[in-house]
Amino acid sequence: MSISQSHTPEVMNYEGSGYKKDFWEGKGRDYEDRVERIAIQRLIPPTGKRLLELGAGFGRLTDLYDGYEQVILLDYSHSLLQDAQARLGKGERYIYVAANLYQLPIADGVCDAATLIRVIHHISDVPAVLKQIRSALTPNAVFVLEFANKRNFKAILRYLLRRQSWNPFSSEPIEFVKLNFDFHPHFMADALGGAGFATKRRLAVSYFRLGILKRFVPTSVLVALDKWLQPTGGVMAYSPSVFTKNVAVGSSPVRNFDGPLFKCPACGSTALMKQEDRLTCGGCGAQWAVRDGIYDFREPLK
Ligand SMILES: C[S@@+](CC[C@H](N)C(=O)[O-])C[C@H]1O[C@@H](n2cnc3c(N)ncnc32)[C@H](O)[C@@H]1O
Repeated sequence: MSISQSHTPEVMNYEGSGYKKDFWEGKGRDYEDRVERIAIQRLIPPTGKRLLELGAGFGRLTDLYDGYEQVILLDYSHSLLQDAQARLGKGERYIYVAANLYQLPIADGVCDAATLIRVIHHISDVPAVLKQIRSALTPNAVFVLEFANKRNFKAILRYLLRRQSWNPFSSEPIEFVKLNFDFHPHFMADALGGAGFATKRRLAVSYFRLGILKRFVPTSVLVALDKWLQPTGGVMAYSPSVFTKNVAVGSSPVRNFDGPLFKCPACGSTALMKQEDRLTCGGCGAQWAVRDGIYDFREPLK
């Protein structure tokens, strides 16, 4: 992985990374995968019109959204989207979009659900990204957000034993490695509220993400315990991962499912004309590539 710099904040660039092979496949993370799936299923409405899967990666979780008529897989990594496309196929049901969360190319009010799982830990300007997401959603749309919790048991213990300098109880995000952040639940609640979301439910997930436990306790037992504990996140969340269900509130663009799907990330115009291998913006003239069924809004064509 590398770090890409443009006129937006820096982006953690997974282009060409082995995220699927090196992190998930045969790497002993069945427990994490299974409990995350349980959490999402508890929070996302089972059916809907169009779901925006933000930071979709190689589409690890996309099968959970089978009840939606259309799913937009959006990610900065073209190569991970190609992996997703190879498995899920081309066609009307899945739309593949290479784009930056800081400059979403999705028109206002065109999605009735969105997810952002294992992604916001790479975001340095959380309010900016949440604002972009909010604009793409219809009133009352559901947005499921997962974030890495700064105030988790392990961090608290390490802090009390003086093996960690940063305070897990203070609300500011902690960047423990370049472009890797843990967030305090209060910070995230404020950021969500400020962007026009009302948090309806919170789950504490992945309490048993410990090598020793995973080695000696059957995965099905850990998953069952996690499932049972997740709802306690509504009262106290000290788990490494927190899932929230948020509803789009406040002034909002009207539902616009049948209007244009994209807007130009450079000028915001929805007048994008499709030619064979590109979209040309009627507002500013910028051209965006469309290659092998993947829309590429990261950088305009020269
Ligand atoms: C840890 S992976 C998670 C992928 C997927 N959500 C999952 O849980 O399997 C993080 C993903 O976020 C994407 N990402 C990070 N920063 C981004 C940005 N600024 N815009 C779009 N995608 C971004 C990366 O390309 C990567 O696919």
